[in-house]
Amino acid sequence: MNAAGSAVSRADFNAWAQQQLATVERALEAWVPADTPASLGVAMRYGVLDGGKRLRPLLVLAACEAVAGSGPAALRAAVAVELIHAYSLVHDDMPCMDNDVLRRGKPTVHVKYGEAQAMLAGDAMQALAFEVLTPEQETGMPPALQARLCGLLARSAGHAGMAGGQAIDLASIGRALDEDALRDMHRRKTGALLQASVQMGAACGPCSAQAWQALGDYGAAIGLAFQVVDDILDVTQASETLGKTAGKDQDHNKPTYVSLLGLQAARQHAEELRQQAHAALGRSGLGAAAGWLAVLADKVVEREH
Ligand code: IPE
Ligand code: IPE
Ligand code: MG
Ligand code: MG
Ligand code: MG
Repeated sequence: MNAAGSAVSRADFNAWAQQQLATVERALEAWVPADTPASLGVAMRYGVLDGGKRLRPLLVLAACEAVAGSGPAALRAAVAVELIHAYSLVHDDMPCMDNDVLRRGKPTVHVKYGEAQAMLAGDAMQALAFEVLTPEQETGMPPALQARLCGLLARSAGHAGMAGGQAIDLASIGRALDEDALRDMHRRKTGALLQASVQMGAACGPCSAQAWQALGDYGAAIGLAFQVVDDILDVTQASETLGKTAGKDQDHNKPTYVSLLGLQAARQHAEELRQQAHAALGRSGLGAAAGWLAVLADKVVEREH
C-alpha cells in the first residue's frame, strides 16, 4: 500500500504501461510525417521514433486516468509532450550545447544528418507538438481544452521553463551554483515539462482544485527528482546502459546534484522527493485512481537508465 492508498502491483503497472506505450508508439509513427520537404521528416522521425523511455507520455496518460479523463485527448497530449522532449534532446546534443554523439543508443541527429538539419528537425518537432494538440479534422476535442493544453505545454517548454533552464545550464558551465540556484535550474530545464505532463493529463478530465494543486506538487517533486537521478546516473552508469555518453557532466564542468552534494546525499535527496510525491498523491483525494502515478514516482527514482 502506498501513500495514495492504492495497492497497484508492479505486474499490473507493467501490463498497463506496455499497452499505453504501444498506443503512443503507433500514434507517433502515424503523426510524425515522413513526407516533408528536403527529407526533414526523416530526421524528425529518427529523433523521436525507436527509442526513449516515454516517461512523459506515461505521466500524461496516468494523470488522465486518475481523473477519469478523455483518452483520445490525453493521447494527443502524450504525443505532444514527447515531441517537445525529443526536440529538446536533439538541440541539447548539438555541438553548441552539450556536444554529444550518442542518444537513445544511436548516433545523435546532428551526427547522422548534419547540424542544420538537426536544428530544423527540432524546430519542426516543436511546431508539430502544437499541430497535434490542434487537429484540423473533427476529433471531438473541445477548442477550450486544445487551448489549455497548448498553454500548459508552451509555458513549460519556453523561456520560463525548459528553454530558460537550458540557458541557465549553459551559462553555469564551470561555475559552482548553490543549492537554490541548482534547484531552480533543474526545475526549469527538466522539471517543468514533467510537471506539465501530469497537468496536461489532469486537464483532460474533471479535476477538483484540491486534486489540481496536489498533482502539481506531485509533478514538481518527480520533475526535480528526475534530473537529480539523471545527474546520479551520469556518474554511476555506463554509456551502454544509458544509451548516451556517461560522465559528460564532469567532463563539461556542469554543476549537478552530485557535484554539489556528493553521491550519497544526492541519492538521499531523490528519496526525499519520492516521499514528497507520494505525500502529494495522498492529499489529492484521488485515492486508488492515482495508483499508476504512485508507481511512476517510484520508477523515476529507482530507474537505472
Ligand atoms: C533525458 O531524458 C534528458 C533529461 C531531461 C534528463 P530521458 O531520460 O527521459 O530520455 P529518454 O526520453 O528516455 O531518451
Ligand atoms: C537535459 O539535461 C535537459 C533537457 C532539457 C534536454 P542533460 O543535458 O543532463 O540531459 P542528458 O544527460 O544529455 O540526457
Ligand atoms: Mg544539457
Ligand atoms: Mg545533455
Ligand atoms: Mg544529464
